[in-house]
Amino acid sequence: MDKFVIKGGKKLSGSVDINGAKNSTLPILAGAILSGDNVMIKNIPDLKDVRTMMDVLRSIGLRLTEDFESRELHIKPSEKLNIETPYELIKQMRASFFVLGPLLARMGKARVALPGGCAIGTRPVDIHLKGLEKLGAKIILGHGYVEASASKLVGDNVYLDFPSVGATENIMMAATLAEGKTLIENAAKEPEIDDLAAFLNTLGAKIKGAGTDVIEITGVKSLGGGTHSIIPDRIEAGTFMVAAAMTGSNIKINNVRLDHLEAVIAKLQDAGVSFYKTGTTIEVAAPERLKPVNIKSFPYPGFPTDMQPQFMAAMTLAKGTSCIQETIFENRFMHVAELKRMGANVQIKDRSVIVEGVKHLSGAPVMASDLRAGAALVLAALAASGKSEILRVYHIDRGYESFEKKLAGLGADISREKDTALY
Ligand code: EPZ
Repeated sequence: MDKFVIKGGKKLSGSVDINGAKNSTLPILAGAILSGDNVMIKNIPDLKDVRTMMDVLRSIGLRLTEDFESRELHIKPSEKLNIETPYELIKQMRASFFVLGPLLARMGKARVALPGGCAIGTRPVDIHLKGLEKLGAKIILGHGYVEASASKLVGDNVYLDFPSVGATENIMMAATLAEGKTLIENAAKEPEIDDLAAFLNTLGAKIKGAGTDVIEITGVKSLGGGTHSIIPDRIEAGTFMVAAAMTGSNIKINNVRLDHLEAVIAKLQDAGVSFYKTGTTIEVAAPERLKPVNIKSFPYPGFPTDMQPQFMAAMTLAKGTSCIQETIFENRFMHVAELKRMGANVQIKDRSVIVEGVKHLSGAPVMASDLRAGAALVLAALAASGKSEILRVYHIDRGYESFEKKLAGLGADISREKDTALY
């Protein structure tokens, strides 16, 4: 296992490039199952989760040729698709569950392992399954697997009890080949949904309203090939904005879709951070000291839950008290205890954390528990005085490409080392 060793207290400068969005790439790779022709995906990020999803597609029988230098992935179809996705792949990454809808639509049946929970919550899939049943699928659960079958999927109105991102994507993909019209109501509106719909429409799907809470899909007989370029990763961009904000720095961030980051930019402006936008580059200028700001995570376009840990890390150094509320996941405060080890004054109260800003954090060995908590601890270590070690960085490698190299390129004193400790 690797760890990051960070000597904090250094200001950042220069510019950093943002990669393609992880949470767009994963459902789009699953969506390629729907195509009977060649698919080219551009601007793919080189992430552990992306490589896992590529293994899932290969296990299903698709032929992939990747070139991470040019950030291109070429997917060749195959007539014979394996309808079973093994647990060993799903347990590595719950997003593999996105193959259920496409496999069911393409092959009329699918056997996909149920994803387990993870550090941030139990993360059930009931909304996915209820939606697919509404389209005519027969769902049987047993031995940790979902067996779905449908001689024919028929379009219908699907109301989501919660605007689940994954459920919206799974149902939307299945509906592309269903007979007739499907309306997904109370759909998730994240930019990644819009990107997936754009990709599927390139293949010949008929999807309208993606990015709003009502998505209309008119089923077609089959989907062809096409080329699509992944949108920039708004959470990676937001993470670097907070890195600048916490270290009193001024940096430039390239390849940013500013319209995907309005809530994050607004909250950082409330905290005293200045932004100067030129095209898809944004300059971030931190104040001497951050002002306290309350946040509450919400489905898009609200403040993204995937930025909650990073923003909390910033608030530990603000001049005053702030309240951080997490409304999406029931256990997304694993970073709190680790921030306390660095001298933060934070108290959990149900689904909220009260943060009393302190003048300084002190470096310490801390442990990443999940992707965004790990990123938050790196940011805290950059701002802390002294040396920190961030353990279990495999969590961070799932969603941040060359995170330590990009931070070192901005002047941070960070290196990746082997973690030989037995724990
Ligand atoms: C996606 O997860 C993202 N992952 C998550 O990013 C992100 O945090 C989340 O959306 C919310 O924005 C990918 O896109 C690969 P949900 P997903 O279904 O689809 C409950 C990261 O750090 N729920 O919108 O799993 C669920 O328990 C990751 O990149 C049900 O109850 O999220 C949760 O409380 C972390 N039943 C809430 O909805 C269901 O059937 C939101 O989950 C589905 C979800």
